[in-house]
Amino acid sequence: MFQKPNPKASEVHNKPSEDFAAKLAQTLELLTRAAREFSPCVQASSLGAEDMVITALIQKLELPIHIFVLDTGALHTETLALLERVQSRATSLSQVLVYRPELHNVIEFIRREGQGAMYKSQALRKECCQIRKLEPLSRALSGQKAWITGLRAEQSNNRSQMQWIEEDFQAGRPITKFNPLMQWTWGDVWHFLSENGVDYNPLHDQFYPSIGCAPCTRAISLGEDFRAGRWWWEEATAKECGLHQK
Ligand code: ADX
Ligand code: SF4
Repeated sequence: MFQKPNPKASEVHNKPSEDFAAKLAQTLELLTRAAREFSPCVQASSLGAEDMVITALIQKLELPIHIFVLDTGALHTETLALLERVQSRATSLSQVLVYRPELHNVIEFIRREGQGAMYKSQALRKECCQIRKLEPLSRALSGQKAWITGLRAEQSNNRSQMQWIEEDFQAGRPITKFNPLMQWTWGDVWHFLSENGVDYNPLHDQFYPSIGCAPCTRAISLGEDFRAGRWWWEEATAKECGLHQK
């Protein structure tokens, strides 16, 4: 039986806000300011839709901002394929740097707790995030004055109080954090990607709005919350891996 393909996320979600042009101008200003006043600064990219917007803008403005990806060793093949494409388009001004966990930490953890440790308890899930994300993050941010994220206020209750520019604390030291898409809606993100023909993770076409590690991310159903597919077995209020913990 012939099966209809899923509609493209770039077609379904392309719904800009009325003030999209003003939001875009504000984002461009913030990125320019980050590059000018906080050099060196880096973009943290999970290769999700929001981060693809930011990378496209950095490259369009030719800003001297490198991009880093935390390859946890548990990413989907679709994400790894996108990483290769993004790396192939990198420029000398905005190089793509990949940080991976220390192999001996991963091996020791899996030997001790098993492959499915993250489902056994929240403490073990956090330990896995510490080894695969937070330790590499501390290396990625070392020597940087600021980092740029794709966080948006509407993504979750935890994120509704965020600011354009925040004083953050990572790996035992203060660092400035820029959230240039803070006020963008999901419709704004897809409007930008569609209008500019920006490459994106095909998992977005398979009902994965928010994409993290493969064992901890699933597709969502109609009407489910944006982050319902992340750590779906945990309480909604606990769904942070520590990258953006206050
Ligand atoms: S998470 O904390 O729940 O994993 P989320 O997936 O919503 O974060 O992404 C929010 C922002 O965190 C992204 O826009 C990006 O800036 C950063 N980020 C998340 N995962 C990664 C990653 N693997 N590598 C680099 N940056 C990441
Ligand atoms: Fe481990 Fe899941 Fe955290 Fe990835 S999201 S680091 S697989 S617990």
